[in-house]
Amino acid sequence: MLEKKRRGEKIVVVTAYDAPTARIEVEAGVDAILVGDSVGVNILGYAHEREVTLADMAHHIGAVRRGAPGVYLIGDLPYATYDTPAQALASSRRLRDAGADCVKFEGAQPDVVAALTAAGFDVCGHLGLESQHQDVKRRQGKTAEAAARLYADALAADAAGQKLLVLELVPDELADAITRAVTAATIGIGAGPRTDGQVLVVNDLAGVTPRDFRHNRRYGQIGAALRDAVGAYAAEVRAGAFPGPAHGFHLADEERAGFERLI
Ligand code: KIV
Ligand code: NA
Repeated sequence: MLEKKRRGEKIVVVTAYDAPTARIEVEAGVDAILVGDSVGVNILGYAHEREVTLADMAHHIGAVRRGAPGVYLIGDLPYATYDTPAQALASSRRLRDAGADCVKFEGAQPDVVAALTAAGFDVCGHLGLESQHQDVKRRQGKTAEAAARLYADALAADAAGQKLLVLELVPDELADAITRAVTAATIGIGAGPRTDGQVLVVNDLAGVTPRDFRHNRRYGQIGAALRDAVGAYAAEVRAGAFPGPAHGFHLADEERAGFERLI
């Protein structure tokens, strides 16, 4: 990733939560996959990211790793699993054991970045909109003072050794200034075009999520395609048009005769 930043090549990141999606994303040529705690709302039917557990994350990281054995895999540390450096280390080991190459967590905690980096983890920061801490909107950097604070947080985490930094829903100018100031590669979502890379939630870009977001672009209509496919299947079952002759098989004549004698 840092090599791409140096060369000025954009870094393409997308979320995945399961093996087949991860495999398809690798076929499509992504640079990295994020198993985000967005798994909670997008896949598990939770109301909020805060409900996601370390066990949920390990389960889905394992699935993505099996579907994409060679991909650079970033895993989210879920809510309240990195409150201290010791807790963050224990939690990160679980995600690494499940298959993560890099662990991401929200907020400004340079001591946690330093401890994880010293223990050999690749660390990805996450500043701006923090879904786990949605009550803390002031972190998005929408005023001069808030922007300067977020900039200082980014530099402190950078000095502590983080490799990547997600910037979510922060003003373009702030994302640009941070991108130029830090060693880490910045990965934006709703943060303008000047970050080193971009990340989107696969359900959003593929058109699975019912509502759309300003920061997103829909590159597919997978939700509608799936509804059409299941609807067509249901109609054919009800009409007796599925299954057809090619979808099953028959007993050989001799076996059928024997079977009829036996029942
Ligand atoms: O969980 C997630 O998908 C994320 C992205 C929005 C960056 O953290
Ligand atoms: Na997340």
